[in-house]
Amino acid sequence: MIKETVLVIGASGQLGTELVETLRGIYGESNVIASDIRKGEGAVFENGPFEVLDILDTVRWREILTKYKPTHIYHLAALLSATAEVNPEYAWKLNMDGLFHVLDAAKEEGTGIKRVYWPSSIAAFGPNTPRRNTPQYGPMDPTTVYGITKYTGELYIQYYKNRYGVDTRSLRYPGLIGYKSAPGGGTTDYAVQIYHDALAGVEHECFLKEGTVLPMLYMPDAIRATLEVMHAQEEKINMRMSYNLAGMSFGPEEITQSIQKHLPDFKTIYKPDYRQAIAESWPAVIDDSLANDHWGWKPEFDLDSMTTDMLLNLKKL
Ligand SMILES: NC(=O)c1ccc[n+]([C@@H]2O[C@H](COP(=O)([O-])OP(=O)(O)OC[C@H]3O[C@@H](n4cnc5c(N)ncnc54)[C@H](O)[C@@H]3O)[C@@H](O)[C@H]2O)c1
Repeated sequence: MIKETVLVIGASGQLGTELVETLRGIYGESNVIASDIRKGEGAVFENGPFEVLDILDTVRWREILTKYKPTHIYHLAALLSATAEVNPEYAWKLNMDGLFHVLDAAKEEGTGIKRVYWPSSIAAFGPNTPRRNTPQYGPMDPTTVYGITKYTGELYIQYYKNRYGVDTRSLRYPGLIGYKSAPGGGTTDYAVQIYHDALAGVEHECFLKEGTVLPMLYMPDAIRATLEVMHAQEEKINMRMSYNLAGMSFGPEEITQSIQKHLPDFKTIYKPDYRQAIAESWPAVIDDSLANDHWGWKPEFDLDSMTTDMLLNLKKL
């Protein structure tokens, strides 16, 4: 068992719920503190410490740091792409001030924070980024407030590493798909809801058009990538902004066909809304060769193996 104290901020969300469970298996239940503005659902929130923490509340933030002295922080709290467009001013505040509160604590010697994980997103790219084989470096002109906060955050985590020596690590997640928790307001959320609709025997009303190909990653791969980048030796992490990360790429009609291999009567209808414009500003296929070169990243799941696993596990719930 590794002896560290891990704090997860924004632990009750889609990623945090699964990450806390996995981290507790590695570090021990009492050594992983889950925190969020709201307590999440499920056994994971009863099996170890949970603290109510609004990362914008600096007094409470200091209390948590003093109480637990975390060595490793996973800072996940954010407003996601679609939700952020509804409240862009608050999205900037939460996504940026929250990150600064974490980074500023990490740069203080007395806090004992050794490493910080903060996720970026494919939303950091923009309409002038090549959509196919999107490179690690290239035009970055995000058009959503979410993407602007992610790209700015990438520059700042690199700055805190270079200027203050904070060991920051980061991945540009594509859309995350999992069965254990609900998605939190992103432009790829349809790819989770579609499985629930298929098993409920109803048609799926998709908020994107047919042919809208986006990069996606199955949650077990996302969790593994997160732990691999956090556990990699420091000298291997030669990218201090955020690594491109890929799993699979598909459009709504392809995931529908994948589900139809199990449930032949399943249908999707298309009613694109404001999220279509967001999706069209993002890449379709990501080149993640740098992550592979630096720390050996390789996804395990493709569309069909993910569909089989999602349907199997959702049926059990
Ligand atoms: N899910 C995806 O497809 C995806 C893709 C790319 C990047 N990401 C990034 O991964 C991270 C986690 O995403 P997620 O899908 O779990 O999001 P989510 O919305 O499901 O979870 C975010 C959590 O943060 C909490 N939170 C909100 N405001 C807070 C505050 N002031 N203080 C503390 N907690 C607060 C929310 O209650 C929620 O539980 C985010 O940074 C997101 O940008 C996610």
